[in-house]
Amino acid sequence: MKAVVFADTRSVVVDEVSDAVVEEPSDVVVRVTSSAICGTDLHMYDGRTGATAGLVLGHEPLGVVDQVGSAVELVKAGDRVVIPTHLYCGVCVNCARGYSAACLRVRPGGFGAAYGYAGMGPYRGAQAELLRVPFADANCIPVPGEPGDDREDDFVLLADAFVTGWHATELAAVRAGCTVAVFGAGAVGLLAAYSALLKGAAEVYVVDGVPERLDKAGELGATPVDYRAGDPVDQIRQFRRKAGLPIGEEAMDGVHNGIDAVGFQAHDRTEAGVEKPTQVIEDLARLINPTGHLGIAGVYAEKDLHPAAAGGHRDGSLTVPWATFFSKGISVNFGRTHDRRYTTLLRDLVVAGRARPGVIITHHGHLDDAAALYQQFDQRANGVIKAVLCP
Ligand SMILES: NC(=O)c1ccc[n+]([C@@H]2O[C@H](COP(=O)([O-])OP(=O)(O)OC[C@H]3O[C@@H](n4cnc5c(N)ncnc54)[C@H](O)[C@@H]3O)[C@@H](O)[C@H]2O)c1
Ligand SMILES: [Zn+2]
Ligand SMILES: [Zn+2]
Repeated sequence: MKAVVFADTRSVVVDEVSDAVVEEPSDVVVRVTSSAICGTDLHMYDGRTGATAGLVLGHEPLGVVDQVGSAVELVKAGDRVVIPTHLYCGVCVNCARGYSAACLRVRPGGFGAAYGYAGMGPYRGAQAELLRVPFADANCIPVPGEPGDDREDDFVLLADAFVTGWHATELAAVRAGCTVAVFGAGAVGLLAAYSALLKGAAEVYVVDGVPERLDKAGELGATPVDYRAGDPVDQIRQFRRKAGLPIGEEAMDGVHNGIDAVGFQAHDRTEAGVEKPTQVIEDLARLINPTGHLGIAGVYAEKDLHPAAAGGHRDGSLTVPWATFFSKGISVNFGRTHDRRYTTLLRDLVVAGRARPGVIITHHGHLDDAAALYQQFDQRANGVIKAVLCP
């Protein structure tokens, strides 16, 4: 089969690799119809996290079940399914408690796993014609309709970006009436803003420095904040004051809920092209009001082969303003998405026509277009916000 393979730093190639097959009785093999490229793939593409040559990339697939293991009970050949990024067994103590990203059975000696991801288990990636899906009864989420129909782009985002955006709003305790600031207008940040609006947030600000991404945030109904135009914390405070703060609440001119949808490859706002991994956390510590909440969905890698000169560290250690979070009484929540909690809920919002996350997808290609799309996505060029490969 054809697959997108990591070759070297900033180099992916489309190679012939051995076909995915049923290896365990509880597996299925899915024929992939759409497979998205993620900001997480870029951490590997940029040579940061120790991916080795030959790794089949990708963890955001939608497709049709092709082969079925003998112990699979709930899924049959021909079913249209979306496959969550972080695979899980469905029955261990962490899965049963709703913490599927910390499943105890998918990575012996560790916890949690993902497809096509350095350090996250032996599972080949989904930017390929075929994908082996272990624990298939738990990991195949059925979706209605036919491959290539008008929900294809909505359903593929259930594999990761939409659930992670929603998860970020849960980490940040977003409820109806909240004021929210999302840092990062990639697919995850945009869909975190979209999720906050679906939940009934009163005000949603989205901070980034890429014009097309800020425009998309505006299209979704959020207020874009361009950090190239000045300190985003000051800009948001000004918006809030201009709208009019109730008497006695003037000191609450920040936001109640902050979301980091950027992670350790954050840019230094004051120096173009330079990374500063603590930039977003520092801004959010200033911006979030006393008693507020911070949700961190951006990845902080435990192994960073080329840490930023400004405050980076090979083992991911960072110096962040803990004292500010403490004195303001801000809750801080982190982590990978517990897909199992949200995938069916968000699918049903799509099926009911209440959510159309697919509006953030800007580019489609075939597997052979992977090298060009990775490069444009990495360079924030050609308006690429979210690209989907259709094998
Ligand atoms: N927690 C999870 O389970 C999970 C799942 C998927 C992705 N992620 C992570 O979420 C993050 C976002 O993913 P994505 O696909 O949207 O990536 P992306 O690379 O498309 O988007 C990141 C955005 O952050 C912006 N940015 C950089 N520095 C900034 C700063 N200082 N202030 C504001 N914005 C800044 C960039 O311009 C870019 O638009 C990545 O770190 C990814 O690895 C986490
Ligand atoms: Zn992803
Ligand atoms: Zn489990």
